Amino acid sequence: MQTDKSNDQTNVSTSTVANAETKAAREGVFISTYGCQMNVHDTDRMHALLEMINIEQVGRPEDASVIIINSCSVREKAVHKVHSEAGRYRKLKNKNPNLKIGVGGCVGQQEKGNLLKDVPVLDFVFGTDTIDKLPQIVQEVRKQNTKITSARFDHVSPYQIETLIKNPGVATFVNIMKGCDNFCTFCVVPFTRGRERSRNIEEIIQDVQKLTLRGVKEVTLIGQNVNSYKSDHGEGFGDLLLRLTKETNLERIRYTTPHPKDFNIELAHIMRDHREKIMEYIHLPAQSGNTEILERMNRGYTREEYLAKAKMLQSEVPGATFSTDLIVGFPGETEAQFEDTLSLLDEVPFESIYAFKYSPRPFTKAAKFLDQVPEDIKSERLTRLFAKHREIAHNLTRKYEGATLRVLVEEYHESDGGCFGRSTQNKSIHFKGSPELVGQTVNVKINCAYPSTLHGEIV
Ligand code: SAH
Ligand code: SF4
Ligand code: F3S
Repeated sequence: MQTDKSNDQTNVSTSTVANAETKAAREGVFISTYGCQMNVHDTDRMHALLEMINIEQVGRPEDASVIIINSCSVREKAVHKVHSEAGRYRKLKNKNPNLKIGVGGCVGQQEKGNLLKDVPVLDFVFGTDTIDKLPQIVQEVRKQNTKITSARFDHVSPYQIETLIKNPGVATFVNIMKGCDNFCTFCVVPFTRGRERSRNIEEIIQDVQKLTLRGVKEVTLIGQNVNSYKSDHGEGFGDLLLRLTKETNLERIRYTTPHPKDFNIELAHIMRDHREKIMEYIHLPAQSGNTEILERMNRGYTREEYLAKAKMLQSEVPGATFSTDLIVGFPGETEAQFEDTLSLLDEVPFESIYAFKYSPRPFTKAAKFLDQVPEDIKSERLTRLFAKHREIAHNLTRKYEGATLRVLVEEYHESDGGCFGRSTQNKSIHFKGSPELVGQTVNVKINCAYPSTLHGEIV
């Protein structure tokens, strides 16, 4: 039987559930996570919520009584991957018939109850707006031995999502907005995360203040379009950054993902004037370097406008480092148009790129475009793009050799006495250290620079 419990579960508060079950024996949940920072952070939330009903995180599916696939739908074979991973858990379910298996995240939102029909081993499916119902869903599937789909978008309630995380560590994520109204023609996210909604600004500040009391030094503000943040009183992303620098004890603020169209000179100046707290790293997703393709993508900027934004940020935020997202083989992309994407790398010093072959996604306009590019051409373009970036990245990162960088230490590894942290430019830094350094900001002199990591010693 399939039931949609999304309405009748809304009134049960998590704390009531927690009280009712506090005496129950401890059990385990294994969550496998795909996709972006938002999904990673959602997994932390799922762990915290399930802990309220005495279900603790475990490291192996074999030790779990609940398994969740927190799925991503942004690129190809997303549904197929969920099917095959769920299939791998069938053996565990044969051994333990009480094991409950669910799918959450963007594929859950996209496919809803279809997943229960197509993958019989699954017991529940939930979406991106129903994460907070997870304890009730799990209790219900256990008690009633029923299957549940709970994947309706909530278009009405304000977006309230106080950070729930068991061990926030030194650096953590904080949601500030969700959803997307941009409808780029290639992208499934507006369909899996719904319309743009911003959190109340006071709530964000209080949330961050509480996190700093728990030892958090750095926060990455996350959302599908962070810089289109708008508070109930019309405060924008720049206002939020300013208030966080003034009203919290955060040492470092990062954010992702911004949209190029929502960057302006005021925001650049806020970054420049508060660079001791707002980290000098800007992810500026271009997607393509060709104006016609950008138009067909519905990105809202031309090549020239993108480059003008990048140049403005380079000059107004001195020292800022850049990265980008690129898609190759978007429908209709010619060799010459692809070369415009290649040549973006000559214009902007991207220290890292996240590049993907275009893949048609459900519900999106571009999936219906008739001039799809053959797979072998997409693969060949992707290889050329990465090859060109490798050449450039080597020169860009070599400048760090001999430099001394300010590093917030996030981890110490007993096995080799190594520490890990990130510099203000978001470089991953490895060096020898000691456990008490975790949480401190230290100076590290870089001896050796690889394209994605730097190695050095404390000075
Ligand atoms: N909001 C961000 C992107 C979020 S999706 C922005 O506007 O830039 C993350 C990345 O996945 C995108 O930047 C894009 O490069 C890639 N992506 C999204 N849909 C894709 C598709 N259909 N095929 C290939 N890559 C895609
Ligand atoms: Fe997707 Fe475009 Fe929205 Fe980014 S801005 S999430 S690429 S629709
Ligand atoms: Fe994937 Fe959903 Fe994030 S589709 S990239 S998990 S918003």
